[in-house]
Amino acid sequence: RAARLTLDPAFTVGRVDPRLYGSFVEHLGRCVYTGIFEPGHPTADEAGLRGDVLALVRELGVTVIRYPGGNFVSGYRWEDSVGPVDERPRRLDLAWRSTETNRFGLAEFMAFLRKLGPDAEPMMALNLGTRGVGEAIELQEYANHPSGTALSDLRAAHGDKDPFGIRLWCLGNEMDGPWQTGHKTAEEYGRLAAETARAMRQIDRDVELVACGSSGQSMETFAAWEATVLTEAYDVVDHISLHAYYEPADGDVDSFLASAVDMESFIENVVATCDHVGAKLKSSKKINLSFDEWNVWYMTTSQEEAESNPLDWPEAPRLLEDSYTVTDAVVLGSLLIALLRHADRVKIACLAQLVNVIAPVMTEPGGPAWKQTTFFPFAEASRYGRGEVLDVRVDSPSYTTKKYGEVPLLHATAVRGDDGTVTVFAVNRSRTDELPLEVALRDLGPSELIGHSALADADPNARNTLDDPERVTPHEVIGTSLADGTLKAVLEPLSWNVIRLR
Ligand code: AHR
Repeated sequence: RAARLTLDPAFTVGRVDPRLYGSFVEHLGRCVYTGIFEPGHPTADEAGLRGDVLALVRELGVTVIRYPGGNFVSGYRWEDSVGPVDERPRRLDLAWRSTETNRFGLAEFMAFLRKLGPDAEPMMALNLGTRGVGEAIELQEYANHPSGTALSDLRAAHGDKDPFGIRLWCLGNEMDGPWQTGHKTAEEYGRLAAETARAMRQIDRDVELVACGSSGQSMETFAAWEATVLTEAYDVVDHISLHAYYEPADGDVDSFLASAVDMESFIENVVATCDHVGAKLKSSKKINLSFDEWNVWYMTTSQEEAESNPLDWPEAPRLLEDSYTVTDAVVLGSLLIALLRHADRVKIACLAQLVNVIAPVMTEPGGPAWKQTTFFPFAEASRYGRGEVLDVRVDSPSYTTKKYGEVPLLHATAVRGDDGTVTVFAVNRSRTDELPLEVALRDLGPSELIGHSALADADPNARNTLDDPERVTPHEVIGTSLADGTLKAVLEPLSWNVIRLR
């Protein structure tokens, strides 16, 4: 039977914060070095930024970029990453057992953002693993104070007279994880996050601050962690972070295709926890969610590789260079749908990561850059998923999964743009069958189909590679119609669909 979707202009979730389309640049593997930055590359500018990568990142439509980690940030010494390049120290990066040359640092990152254009803003992570309040406010002063103090004048002496104006800050990274350098208990971290936030607000009341939530819903401390941290920091932070990565565990592709079930329950459980703390504190303030690491990641393979091949502090090694399939792109599209469906509380999200490391963009040193399959759903969502998210009603046939039980075959949302256009984003989770779709557009307005594009392939394992960089691209779907307020389409098996109406 057909899956049905009802869209009604009176039922809305909330406005999309453009920062839902963020990404993440970590000093990890080749994300920075030979990723965004490669002096001498044929497309590099005078600063060493790769022009081919900049063009792809612009096309991807990234709105905010988290930097410089990740696990890396818990050993980060910001002072090492500024000033004359040839005086910057080489350091051990404990997180990824690599050598950090600091050839690329804070000023280079800000130059990269400026080159991307006015739509991309920085999200700077602070080291609350090996460092604390003092270093956080020193970095804030260096980055944001206009002039006339030691650190602001130092920035000017380093070549950046104008302050960087970094508004959005992460108070550490994954502090709940035993793998984190300087890992803390919820009580320890909650106090540190609150004190850091208070000090930062003494410099600038308007900074936007993200406290670390859990590294995943399956963490033993999940929910208790959020409650403890927020009990300490509720009044002084704006967001709490969520991180989640998905892979087909033990080859269970059907459950993998339903990964958004986990993501949606994770979001709803964090919202419930935040609101519980807010209620206890009798606060009218709402804490929002920053899903600042999410993606498909073949983490089991990465861990096996790391264990069988202990690295000896190399510079920019090939790490976590997952090559994504059509199936992975469909799952990623479904994860984007999950974020949009919760746009009332998820205000920031960062696809981890941007280049080479579990990334939508790949590069070869000295060679080309290309788009992974996962590039397409992200770019389309960023382009068309702006405006008001509609609270769609779904009635869909389902299938059985080992991990999540019965799951609807259709996963969908719709966004109404300020220009009146409506975009339906839909995933068919069936690996074998087409899914007929009927969408009732109650009083919504659009009467004309602009187009229906799909990412699907006869080979679900098809991918784009150095040798065949355009093997997978979205295609136009013929036969979709809109008449008398009903949109009719057929969703190919295992497909990500973007249907646009005006
Ligand atoms: O994105 C890769 C890593 O995943 C990040 O460094 C860390 O925060 C997370 O565990």
